[in-house]
Order: sequence, then C-alpha cells, then structure tokens
Amino acid sequence: MEALERLVKKLTEVSSPSGREEGIRQAILEELEGHIDGYRVDKLGNLIVWKAGTSGKKILLDAHMDEIGVVVTNIDDHGFLKIDRVGGMSPYTVFQKRLRFGNVLGIVGVEGETSEELQSNIQKMSFEKLFVDIGARNREEAEKLCPIGTFGTFDSYFYSSGDIMVSKSMDDRIGCAVIVEVFKRLAKPRHSIFGVFAVQEEVGLIGAHVAGYDIEPDVALAIDVTGVGDTPKGLKRVPMALGKGTCIKVKDAYSISDRKMIEKLKELAEKYNISHQMEVLIYGGTDAAGYQTTKSGIPSATLSIPTRYIHTPSEMVDKRDVEATIELTIRYCEEGLE
Ligand code: CO
Ligand code: ZN
Repeated sequence: MEALERLVKKLTEVSSPSGREEGIRQAILEELEGHIDGYRVDKLGNLIVWKAGTSGKKILLDAHMDEIGVVVTNIDDHGFLKIDRVGGMSPYTVFQKRLRFGNVLGIVGVEGETSEELQSNIQKMSFEKLFVDIGARNREEAEKLCPIGTFGTFDSYFYSSGDIMVSKSMDDRIGCAVIVEVFKRLAKPRHSIFGVFAVQEEVGLIGAHVAGYDIEPDVALAIDVTGVGDTPKGLKRVPMALGKGTCIKVKDAYSISDRKMIEKLKELAEKYNISHQMEVLIYGGTDAAGYQTTKSGIPSATLSIPTRYIHTPSEMVDKRDVEATIELTIRYCEEGLE
C-alpha cells in the first residue's frame, strides 16, 4: 500500500469523537516522530507541533482531529442504550448503522415501528426514536459495557479503489494526513510552521479558539473537507467536484477567508501548476472561523479537500486532490507571506 493510503487508513480507523481525542492524538504523534522540532499538548488536548524558521514569522496550519459521534444518555431495563449526537450526527444517517464504543459494538434500531411503517415514517426520524443494541441481556450488563456518558462513533473500515479513498472521519483526518505530510516534506522552513491538530471542532471550534490565542500566528490556514455538487442531482450552486483539485475557500456559512491569503493561494497554485478550484460553500464552516475572531484577529483561510457523503460512515475523497492540497500548503508555507 502506498504511503499516503497507509497514513489515511491509520488515521481514519481510530475512533476519537469530540472530547475524546486521546487515541487519534497518539496516532498522529507516532507519524510525526523525527519530522518536528517539538510539540506540546495544551490544557484542552490540542496537539501543537512545530518546525522553527528564521524569519520571526509564524504560519499556523490547522486540521481538527475529532470526528462526529454519539453519547450514551440512558440505559433501559433490557440493556438497550439511548443516545444523543456529538457534533453533526444525523438520526437519519445513524439508524441501522453499526456504532463503536471503544471495544463494544452496537446496532442502531428504531422503536415501535415495523420496517414497513418505518419506510413511510422515515421523515420523522429522531434520536428520541432510536436505540442501540449492544447485545446486553439487561441493564446491569449494559452498564458494565457502555455506562451513561460513553462516547461512540461510526464503525466502518477504510477502503480504496483507484484514486478514490473511502472511510468514516475523512472529516477531518484527511486534513490531519495533509499536515503530517507537509511536516514530513518541509525540510528547513523560513517561517516557523505550527501544526495544530485541534480538538472539538465538530461541537463549536473549541480547540481552534484557544490554540490561536496561544500561538498568535501571522496567519492561520485550516485544512478541512468541503461539500461537492458532483453526484446525481447535486446542488447546482456548489461547483466543487472530486478529482478537480484542492479547493481555495472564498467563503462558507461561518467565515469569509482573508482576501490577501486567497489571492496568494491562487497565485501560487497557478505558478506551480497545482490543480485547484475556487470554493464558495453555502453551508458549513471550519476552524478558520475560530482563528479569525481570536485575540485581536488572525487573518485566516481554508484549503479544502472536496468530499462526497460528509458526516456518513463512507466519506469519499480523491488522492489527486489530497496531493494537490499537500503541494499548495507547502508552497504557501514557503512563499505565502511575501
Ligand atoms: Co465535520
Ligand atoms: Zn471538518
């Protein structure tokens, strides 16, 4: 298996929802060994790594390492779990899927409906109606396996076919993989490069806010996934597509990228022939919004990897877009502040 694929498989298969990032932090650190000048873990759990430059300037690269998930809210007498979302988990997506709570697996069922009724009532799906079956015989057994407050994620495996890679948590382990690769390939940077593997993006950009305050960089560049319009009847106002390159984000629902940064990213993509697309996302947001409003304001932008089926167990990306994102990020680290 080629290097990028192995890295993405390793990072996406870790189950680490928001607030429970210990596992993914360990996996990323392992990958960065020998490629960084130092690291620290801040009080909220952000992993901050760096390579020191000589110019006195600081560029912050961000990818969030958490993923969407669920949390156990209650257990009934028969050992069935009730759950709620952690981040942007939809009851439509989660039902009939398999969930992972550490080493425990659970199947998501729906209360009080035959499968026929379910077909006609599907528009009324809610977490209220869902339960999780972990195979426990009663409450006591379930409490041992999955006590109230246990966090879970989708249980799904990585696969690839040609240029395509599919897994849960490409959002945003693919961004984490990009930054790991940037640190591996960037030998002696002029500016100090900080990599922030942020906690709790999916529940409100929590990690980004505090990391920006701490590091106070000259600019912050978030690397995250973005939606596409290239599936049957995809949104007409969203031009992004798989395989057409890294996406230079102009705007989404949470932030407007710094204009100078966008111009520079575009200029560098053209200069070095890196395939790219201009992105205006009509929904969603990234950690860039968190950096932008921290301290006295940090100029921020986002480079995105176009992704199909975001927030499902099968998020799909194209290796060529990932490579283009790595390349443009490296060029920006070298020439972005000119
Ligand atoms: Co997300
Ligand atoms: Zn994301």
